[in-house]
Amino acid sequence: MIQVAVFGYGTVGSGVVQVIDDNNELISKRVGDQLNVKYILDLRDFPGDKNEAKVVHDVNVILDDPEVAIICETMGGVRPAYQFSKDALMKGKCVCTSNKELVAAHGPELLEVAKANNCSYLFEASVGGGIPIIRPMNTSLAPEHIDKIMGILNGTTNYMLTKMSREGASYDEVLKEAQALGYAERNPEADVEGHDAGRKIAILASLMTGKTVSYDDVYTEGITKITARDFEYAKKLGKSIKLLAITENTDAGVTAMVAPFMIGADHALNGVNDVFNAVYVTGNMVDDVMFYGRGAGKLPTASAVVSDVIECARNLGSTLPCIWTDEKVEVIDFKNKERKFFVRVAIDKRGDVLNQVGPITEIRVCDEEFAFVTSAMSEKVFEEKISKLNGVLSVIRVED
Ligand code: HSE
Repeated sequence: MIQVAVFGYGTVGSGVVQVIDDNNELISKRVGDQLNVKYILDLRDFPGDKNEAKVVHDVNVILDDPEVAIICETMGGVRPAYQFSKDALMKGKCVCTSNKELVAAHGPELLEVAKANNCSYLFEASVGGGIPIIRPMNTSLAPEHIDKIMGILNGTTNYMLTKMSREGASYDEVLKEAQALGYAERNPEADVEGHDAGRKIAILASLMTGKTVSYDDVYTEGITKITARDFEYAKKLGKSIKLLAITENTDAGVTAMVAPFMIGADHALNGVNDVFNAVYVTGNMVDDVMFYGRGAGKLPTASAVVSDVIECARNLGSTLPCIWTDEKVEVIDFKNKERKFFVRVAIDKRGDVLNQVGPITEIRVCDEEFAFVTSAMSEKVFEEKISKLNGVLSVIRVED
C-alpha cells in the first residue's frame, strides 16, 4: 500500500481525497499497488466528516512518518506551503501541488530539492485546472522548439466575460454572480487583475524556454475596465473579448503578457466559454496543438493532482524529469509587436482621429461616441498616436 497525505482540506484537497476514494480500484490497478490517504493536514477540525479521524494539525506527524510517500499540497499561498513542501521533499517524499503561486515563485528550487532527494515535485494542477498541459509540455512536446503559447488561463474571468457577452450584463453584476457561485473570491483581485493568469503563463513560459520566466516580468492587465458597451461593439464586429495570456519565444527574445483582447470568430480560443480554459501551443515541428477543459473547480483540479500522484506512485525512488532550470530569462518588451487596436472615442474627436491615427475601420453603436479598429502597428507607435488624442474611452488589443 502507498500512503498519501493531503495538505489543506479545502475545495481541491477534499476533491483529491474524493478522487482517490471513488476511483480507488482503477487507480490501484493502474499503479500496481493500492493508494491510501493516511493523513489530512489542516488547521481546522471537520466534525462529522467521514475523514475526520485522518485530520492532523501538526505537519511533523506526517513528515516524520516514513510510511508516507506522497504529499498532495493543496493549501495555496507561499507560506507555509513553501517550507512544508521543501521539508517533505528533503525527506524523500514526492509533492504534487495545485499551488501556482508557490510553483511560480519557487518552482525550480523545489525541483532541485526533489532531484537531490530522489523524489519528484509535480504541478499538473497549477495551470489550467483539469487540463493536462504540464506533463505534455515535459513529454509529448519535448522534441519541439515552442514558438508561442496562448491561453485562456483563468476560469473566473472567462465565466464573467462570457456572461457579459451573452447577457449584456455589467462588470459589477457578473462579478457579484461569480462570487455567489463560488468562482470569484470575496477579494477577486488575483483573478480580475490578471495576476492568476500571469502566474500560470510564467510557469508555461518557463517550461517553453526550459529556464525561469519570472512572474514579476509578465506584463499584466485585467478585465476591470471592460464594459457592456465594449461588448456591443465586439458583437457588431463579430468578435468576442477574452483575457488572453500570451508568451512568445522569438529570435528577438521572450515576451510574456496577460491582457483582454478582442478576438475574431475564427480564432482558436473564440469558442472557449464559461469556466473553461484552453491552451494553444505552437511548436516548430508539430505546429499548433490545443488543450481544452475545465480550468477551475474541485474535481477537475483534484483529478490533475491525482494524475501526478499516480506518476509518483509508479516511479517511487526516482525523480521525474522536468524541463525547468533556475537560469533567468530576460523578458523583452512586447511593445515592438505589431497588432491592431480597438478604440472608443467621444464623437466630437472624430476629426482628430482621422488626422492622427491613419487608416481606420469605423464602427457605430450609439450617438455619443464612435469606435474604430486601427491598421496593424506596434504598441509603441500606437501609444504615441493615442497619447495625443483626448476623449479616449477604451482601448482593447485585437488578435486576429
Ligand atoms: N481562480 C482560478 C481560476 C482557480 O478562476 O481560474 C484555478 O486556478
